[in-house]
Amino acid sequence: MSRQILQNVRKNVTKLSPYIPGKPIREVQEEYGLSEVAKLASNENPIGPSKKVQAAIQSVLGELHRYPDGGSTELKRAIAQKHDVTPEHILVGNGSDELIKMLSETFLHPGDEVVMPAPSFSQYVFGTLLMDGSVNYVPLAEGFEYDLDAILRAITPRTKMVYLCTPNNPTGTYIRKEAFAAFMRKLPEGVLIVLDEAYYEYVTAADAVHGLSFVREGYPVVVLHTFSKLYALAGLRVGYLVADPSIVQEINRVREPFNVNTVAQVAAVTALDDTEHVQTSIEVNESGKKQLYSAFERLGLTYIPTQTNFILVDTKRPSKEVFQQLLKVGVIIRSGEPFGLSTWIRVSVGTQEENIRLIEALEQI
Ligand SMILES: Cc1ncc(COP(=O)(O)O)c(C=O)c1O
Repeated sequence: MSRQILQNVRKNVTKLSPYIPGKPIREVQEEYGLSEVAKLASNENPIGPSKKVQAAIQSVLGELHRYPDGGSTELKRAIAQKHDVTPEHILVGNGSDELIKMLSETFLHPGDEVVMPAPSFSQYVFGTLLMDGSVNYVPLAEGFEYDLDAILRAITPRTKMVYLCTPNNPTGTYIRKEAFAAFMRKLPEGVLIVLDEAYYEYVTAADAVHGLSFVREGYPVVVLHTFSKLYALAGLRVGYLVADPSIVQEINRVREPFNVNTVAQVAAVTALDDTEHVQTSIEVNESGKKQLYSAFERLGLTYIPTQTNFILVDTKRPSKEVFQQLLKVGVIIRSGEPFGLSTWIRVSVGTQEENIRLIEALEQI
């Protein structure tokens, strides 16, 4: 390949590292000759999409020669109704990953700063570096709790956005409503707050912040939600943001014409309405959490109580090694290494059987 072509690659692009996803089940089966593999690496809903969603998907297969509804009209209407906002408050994306990228494309100039907690979700870094911005990391406090005063102190005149993931991936810790309200009162003008609530449906804490009320009150807050977690549609890629219509309008300029496919739109509308499946999913998660908490306690492993469908656990050993050992016996988890947590692992809450598999594997190693 011509050197000139490779030299033309934008400098900031050369600094990006491709996202490393959780290992696919089939790959692990083939690599280790295993028939049964439990994937507890990507915080997916372990019971899968509901029968209603599967039927809805079937019903549109004959229409796939048509382009999707570029504006995701019906889905936006359904989301708006659920959250008591207008469709103009909503933008649907090909997963919230796409929305994170679009936020950067809309608001970041080269040299701008983005503030985010550490450790947190890696795509905020990707979006920032893509636009030649820089990231100002603020370490979480004791017990991986949020310190919003530290976040405020990290904001400079160059800061355009602050990402707050609540509950946070990979820690499962969350922001209190009162703390967030105080934070917003002190926020310098011109800074956009992105509250990534990918796991908000799992939250049980009564004092947790929910960004929608701040959006409704006109604060500069963008709330991110996804259909990949509780709604069990990670494979279809649907996420959405809720913000003031004036903000949504600007982000909508960078949206690809048909960014959310037809199957995804229909599945999401149906999933939103399937309260029975939602309830079952929450119950499976709650009982799985209890099952895992008690196993970790029995094994003497420290864990962080979670408001999500995953748990951060300290193995007191190099997590890279634990990850490899678990893989060999058919359990895929996340090593804490990429998050800078060298002895911690992040495990998604699975079905009862999957959790047992993890517990037995941990006992074994
Ligand atoms: C905090 C957080 N935000 C966003 C995402 C991405 O979600 P989506 O599948 O909608 O792109 C994830 C996925 O793991 C996540 O943990």
